Amino acid sequence: MGEKSFQLFPEVASSIAGQVDALYAYLVLVSAFFSLLIAFLVVFFAIKYRKRGNEVPEPMDEHSIGGMVLEIVWSVIPLGLSMVMFAWGASIFFTESRPPADSMEIFVTGKQWMWKVQHNEGAREINELHVPVNRDIRLTLTSEDVIHDFYVPAFRTKTDVLPGRYTTEWFRPTKVGQYHIFCAEYCGTKHSGMIGTVYVMNEADYNAWLGAGSGEGSMAEQGQALFNQLGCGTCHASEINKQNGRCPNLNGLFGTTVDLKDGSKVKMDETYIRESVLYPQAKIVAGYDDIMPTFKGLVTEDGLLKLVEYVKSLGPKNGTQTSATPAAMQTSASQPKAGTPARTAPQAGTVPGNR
Ligand code: CUA
Repeated sequence: MGEKSFQLFPEVASSIAGQVDALYAYLVLVSAFFSLLIAFLVVFFAIKYRKRGNEVPEPMDEHSIGGMVLEIVWSVIPLGLSMVMFAWGASIFFTESRPPADSMEIFVTGKQWMWKVQHNEGAREINELHVPVNRDIRLTLTSEDVIHDFYVPAFRTKTDVLPGRYTTEWFRPTKVGQYHIFCAEYCGTKHSGMIGTVYVMNEADYNAWLGAGSGEGSMAEQGQALFNQLGCGTCHASEINKQNGRCPNLNGLFGTTVDLKDGSKVKMDETYIRESVLYPQAKIVAGYDDIMPTFKGLVTEDGLLKLVEYVKSLGPKNGTQTSATPAAMQTSASQPKAGTPARTAPQAGTVPGNR
């Protein structure tokens, strides 16, 4: 970007930015056209129908066809114009709210007042987000405290970042460069300083950048360590407990639909895993007892994301909108095959020495 000249519009740097701008242009043109038309008619009629002497105007014929036609015309045309706004806007909204199935996944945690970013392969960054160009990127976002909002004007996308919940935002960067990140929800004293930069890099640069990662292993590996450290393994990974059926076996569960004790069903997704760690009694799997203690206060949001990644790595079922076992990320195109135990360590060479 370099020189900071005044820009009326932010750069166009994602696949959807052009569509958003086109819709915006349409809104501006329609508004400008009617504003000018109305202003002109106000003046024109004021002059044309001004009071002249003592002349009494002709009474209007209420049943005239001309009046009826006029009313229909000025109802139907604005209806058409506004339905175009509705349909067009809705279609962009649907596109923006549905990440493509093979998106690359990155985790973002907002807190007063910074953005913490965690890549699947283990790399971490603060107030910076490195992404490869021309790839669909799906962010999973949550907050440690209050409501924030992750906004990248050049991509024309933003999403609320809520405490206690995962939200998603996706984009496909189309231009190598650096772009602003803003927090777009007032979140306290330093809200205006909750900013950062997206670095869109070509694939090779991105892989090199990843290779210089944190040296802490992939998210799934870190999640596994945490899983053992918190003692989750003593039940969920113990052969004895699996046999007496005290704890659900987590292998291959992610993305499936789980039957609950109360007869309802729930999809085993990020949100359900998170809830089950913090509020284990909320949705108990059919056939099991309410014996799990809560881990609320013992795991950070970062830790939860790692646990989620670990459970995901135990076997995503086909067809779910995820991700990205560590191995799959490297070889850009390849997706984990259903049923493949994706628990393997990420390929040597990509897990990094020190930064
Ligand atoms: Cu975070 Cu405003």
